[in-house]
Amino acid sequence: MFRSRCGGCHTEGGPAPFALRTFEQARAWSSSIRRAVASGAMPPWHADPRYGAFSNDRRLPASEKAKLLAWIDGGSLPGSAPREAVSVERPASSGGIDWSIRVPDLVFELPEEVTVPAAGDVPYHGYRVETGLAEDVWIQAAETRPGNSAVVHHIIVQAFSGAGAVRASPGGDPRTAGDLGGYAPGTGPLVMPPGVGRRLPAGAVLDFQMHYTPTGKDETDRSRIGLILAAEPPRHESRTALCSTPFLWIPAGERDVRFEADLTFPRATRLLSLRPHMHLRGDTFEFRAEYPDGRSEILLLVTGYDFNWQTTYRFAEPRPLPAGTRLRCTATYDNSGGNPLNPDPGRDVSWGRETTDEMMIGFVDYYEVDE
Ligand code: HEC
Repeated sequence: MFRSRCGGCHTEGGPAPFALRTFEQARAWSSSIRRAVASGAMPPWHADPRYGAFSNDRRLPASEKAKLLAWIDGGSLPGSAPREAVSVERPASSGGIDWSIRVPDLVFELPEEVTVPAAGDVPYHGYRVETGLAEDVWIQAAETRPGNSAVVHHIIVQAFSGAGAVRASPGGDPRTAGDLGGYAPGTGPLVMPPGVGRRLPAGAVLDFQMHYTPTGKDETDRSRIGLILAAEPPRHESRTALCSTPFLWIPAGERDVRFEADLTFPRATRLLSLRPHMHLRGDTFEFRAEYPDGRSEILLLVTGYDFNWQTTYRFAEPRPLPAGTRLRCTATYDNSGGNPLNPDPGRDVSWGRETTDEMMIGFVDYYEVDE
């Protein structure tokens, strides 16, 4: 269980501070594991569990949690450690890479080997990758793979249409054509439901936003994305919409500064995923559906937002919205000294590209249906 549920992050040089892949390691950490697992702090997951069901939910199912705690309470004995509950499927191997999707039709990689220094903060960086596609293609599944998982914290891949494509920026650019998923420990490949596809336009440019964490020695990485293409154009096209406002003003020292944005879906829609994007002062982000009949409900509430994990919340089943539904997004920011990520509580902050400025974007992946 440790290997599959914890080892994606708790590995030598991974994003977590210590490895948890063997029985001995788990035993050495058992009392803090007990605390972190019992409180729900680990595995980390920032969505309020009262709302929505997500396929990439990292939390332990209740039965696994109970087994883990019982093992620790029983003295963390060898031989009785909880076993892997997840069966590992045989991966498709090609060019030395084990893909969990089938062998991809197209693979795009970083334009060069990136050198990650031994120590220090490596700022977020966007790498531009030309696809050189002569015609539009339809993506059915996409898997992003780190070249060197010891240094890759996470990756976000977005597609921009070719002509005049926007240059990659550290904070992400709202004029995106579409999220192609990305990589984070514990999040599987992006797989479209049957009959749904994502268009990658001719000449498209991919932006790989790379978050690297140094390991103590110089490392190199060349990450890549593999795409499975649909044989024929799908019935429904999946797109990305933005629930966003640029009019942010976050006074120095203030907590709980609130902004709203909304987005109306004129036709019957199915939501595939939601991704809140704020920078270091972001605190909470709510997506609420306001239905034409006056009812409303929360679809996702992220609390304790952490800029370091740009998590996409993928619905376990496409979420239906009747025609005319308004999506209302509410974000709060903490510009006080009580926010441990805040680089400068003495500064008024507004919209900007740098991570020390702010953004408010809800990325919404959806498709329309006839009803
Ligand atoms: C998605 C990545 C990720 C996964 C999966 C994950 N962890 Fe962690 N873990 C972290 C990070 C990052 C930290 C250090 C920062 C923090 O405490 O949030 C951490 C810290 C911890 C700590 C120290 C907490 C403390 O209070 O000092 C424990 C114990 C722990 N993890 C146990 C686990 C166990 C057990 C699992 C699996 C059931 C697990 N983690 C899964 C990323 C992860």
